[in-house]
Amino acid sequence: MPFSTLTPQPNDPLLALIKSYAADPREEKIDLGVGVFRDERGATPIMAAVKQAEEQLLTTQDSKSYLGPEGDKGFVTAIAEHLFGEIQTHRAIDGLQTPGGTGALRLAGELLVRSGVKRIIVASPTWANHLAIFQEVGLSVITTPCFDLKTQSFDLKGFSETLNAAEAGDAVLLHGCCQNPLGIDPTKQDWRVIADIIASRQLLPLIDIAYQGLGDGWEKDNLGARTILSAVPYGLLAYSCDKNFGLYRERTGALYVSAPDAESLHCTLSNLLHLARTNWSMPPDHGAAVVRLILTNAALHTVWREELETMRQRILSLRHELAHLGTIGSLNLAPIAHGKGMFATLPLTPSQVTWLREHYAIYMAHTGRINIAGFGEGDIQRFGSALHALMKQNIA
Ligand code: LMR
Repeated sequence: MPFSTLTPQPNDPLLALIKSYAADPREEKIDLGVGVFRDERGATPIMAAVKQAEEQLLTTQDSKSYLGPEGDKGFVTAIAEHLFGEIQTHRAIDGLQTPGGTGALRLAGELLVRSGVKRIIVASPTWANHLAIFQEVGLSVITTPCFDLKTQSFDLKGFSETLNAAEAGDAVLLHGCCQNPLGIDPTKQDWRVIADIIASRQLLPLIDIAYQGLGDGWEKDNLGARTILSAVPYGLLAYSCDKNFGLYRERTGALYVSAPDAESLHCTLSNLLHLARTNWSMPPDHGAAVVRLILTNAALHTVWREELETMRQRILSLRHELAHLGTIGSLNLAPIAHGKGMFATLPLTPSQVTWLREHYAIYMAHTGRINIAGFGEGDIQRFGSALHALMKQNIA
């Protein structure tokens, strides 16, 4: 029997939450699950700049013919200009369009394996799919706990020790900004320290950026990536436009290579193009064409930047509102004010998360991760009451 050796695989717990939330008839339900931006009404609207770019595309696009495995090069270059800025003067950087940030991570993983890299170091917790992707391509994933959930802080000392113990040639995954699932980013000084160790240990950084513009802002969220890539001869960067352009289902992303010279860049990129060709042949076009139009048209760019900043400000004010809940039992929510991006993780057990869902219709990842943008009008007060009730339950 074909496939008789296969065993059924569980649904992805985060994606399964979308369905259970939709099926819940309770009106007061709150969705803090999957990471999509929501406005105060709970909607994930199409951004006005995206709508305008789509209208332009509809009237000006004159062909649906193939573009090639590199996808829309105008898109790739437009993102690169904003992302890398002046470091492009001393590093050879180029990339290819991928189906979402996930496609970029998968391709990066395959390139690492093809290059003989055996291990990737990942500060945990991280986005669950990071681990799954790297294991799937055959890398050994070395996870190292680097965060204190109680104080919501990054353990630079612990991470430095792990990096210092790594072998030359090991890859290291870094969240460029807005760490998922914690929202805890290294400081400017931390980035410097990490960059120096990565350079001196001859490690290979793979930077994941999926939330640019939702942390400290569109420009400032480049800082980590630029610090790291300036310090090392080679680096990879996976980029997603899901959140900052609201293009989730359009699967719009890119993978960049930073190399010491044009020749090494060309060789690495040719391998990536070959891998892309054998995976998906060519990436879907629509989202990338939209982003290209937005980034290369001054009027659209202005509209989009304002929308992005409004999203960021909404998340910031929700962070402050949450932090204002203060200490509830063993939970201290105050440090959430200083986090970055859409997520924070509360030190809750899976049973406590289940209790909140069953008794208060509050949906969050079983790890205690919350999507802060999921709070609507009045929800934070109800969330606070739910946490007070939970802390009285003695649920382990
Ligand atoms: C998330 O972490 O919620 C998002 O990145 C969506 C996903 O694909 O998991």
